[in-house]
Amino acid sequence: MKLVTIVAGLLMVAVANAQEKPMLAEQAFKNVRVLKGIPVDQFMATMGFFSASLGETCTDCHSAESGGNWDKYADDNPRKETARRMLGMMNAINKTYFGGRREITCYSCHRGVERPDVTPNLADLYGPPPSKEPDELREPTSSKAPSADLILDRYIQAIGGVDRVAKLTSFAAKGTYQGYQDEKYPMDVFAKAPNQLSTVIHTAAGDSTTTYNGSAGWIAGPATERPVALLELTGGDLEGARLDAAVWFPAQIKLALTQWRGASSAIIDGRDVQMIQGTGDGRYPVNLYFDSKSGLLARVVRYTESPVGLNPTQIDYADYREVAGVRMPYRVTVTWLDGKSITEFSEIQPNVAIEAERFAKPPRPALNK
Ligand code: HEC
Ligand code: HEC
Repeated sequence: MKLVTIVAGLLMVAVANAQEKPMLAEQAFKNVRVLKGIPVDQFMATMGFFSASLGETCTDCHSAESGGNWDKYADDNPRKETARRMLGMMNAINKTYFGGRREITCYSCHRGVERPDVTPNLADLYGPPPSKEPDELREPTSSKAPSADLILDRYIQAIGGVDRVAKLTSFAAKGTYQGYQDEKYPMDVFAKAPNQLSTVIHTAAGDSTTTYNGSAGWIAGPATERPVALLELTGGDLEGARLDAAVWFPAQIKLALTQWRGASSAIIDGRDVQMIQGTGDGRYPVNLYFDSKSGLLARVVRYTESPVGLNPTQIDYADYREVAGVRMPYRVTVTWLDGKSITEFSEIQPNVAIEAERFAKPPRPALNK
């Protein structure tokens, strides 16, 4: 099923009437009884966290009819009731035993299954260890480990050097966007230094636009059955949009995050990488992984908040090619708790004029054709 499209579409629908302030879940939805007082994007992040924790799709917990019919998500059923009770249990455990810190989440027990294991499994104990990619910064393995500053400088060097990077001040790119188990759609990306980025995916139902103007961000897209909507990004999603924009003008990366730490070595996809860590909002770390050999940025992992736990987003950069003397990634793979997308560029035009409206708050998208 087209989970990604559905979630994105749902967000749009949910916030149809959102104006200045981010809309709260209970204002957007009909039957919210526990997860109140949080913006719609955090509410949807919670749904993603539930699905990932239990290894379920949305319709497993809601109903088969809710696929494609947003009204049906409001209907109650025994599983939804159980999930609400579990929320209460989780909060009670954390409050009673962990001083209110969020030590136990849905994932702590469920680990991707509906019914948590009860008995240790001998096959797991003696079989090969599950592959897990590094997400915590260990202390540098040797005192010779380079600092975050050096790794970032080396990256700038690897893609073309300070001067050339500074001369790339905008670009317009064309390519394709493919969501998880979905078809490929044409897409356009517009970027302007130091920190503006707009991505337009031309889906079958209409354009889906994500825009960051340097301080605020939005997602606007086609609604399938109800009025069209516009969502203002908040919290970790906004921080994420800021970093996504900075990555395209790499001299900005140092400025986009603070409290840099690192480096420590790790392996991803069989390659040696060096990981450094910074933070956007002072609370959650952002991990950046650089290929040890080439010095190129291979991956960014960042987190957004939800009331039940942090939602990781992983962005892999690959297929670097030269544009105006600067090496840029032509393939970007984004993986999050309930979806995955692959962007492949066919052309990137450097230093083109881009009208300011590209980065302004998007208009309400047109209705379906
Ligand atoms: C583990 C069960 C579970 C899973 C999986 C799940 N949900 Fe939910 N969902 C709930 C519960 C429980 C509520 C009600 C929350 C409350 O009362 O605060 C809810 C409420 C909602 C609502 C609000 C409906 C309304 O109008 O009141 C929407 C929309 C929604 N979920 C969408 C999704 C989507 C999309 C997914 C897949 C990404 C998903 N859910 C996955 C349990 C789940
Ligand atoms: C302390 C451990 C623990 C935590 C934390 C936990 N669960 Fe559970 N959950 C269980 C156990 C154990 C069961 C199975 C109970 C049973 O079989 O009667 C279960 C069952 C469920 C079920 C019913 C599954 C089915 O087979 O129908 C749902 C839905 C569920 N949990 C959702 C959640 C959600 C959502 C969260 C986070 C808010 C959560 N759980 C957190 C232990 C936990």
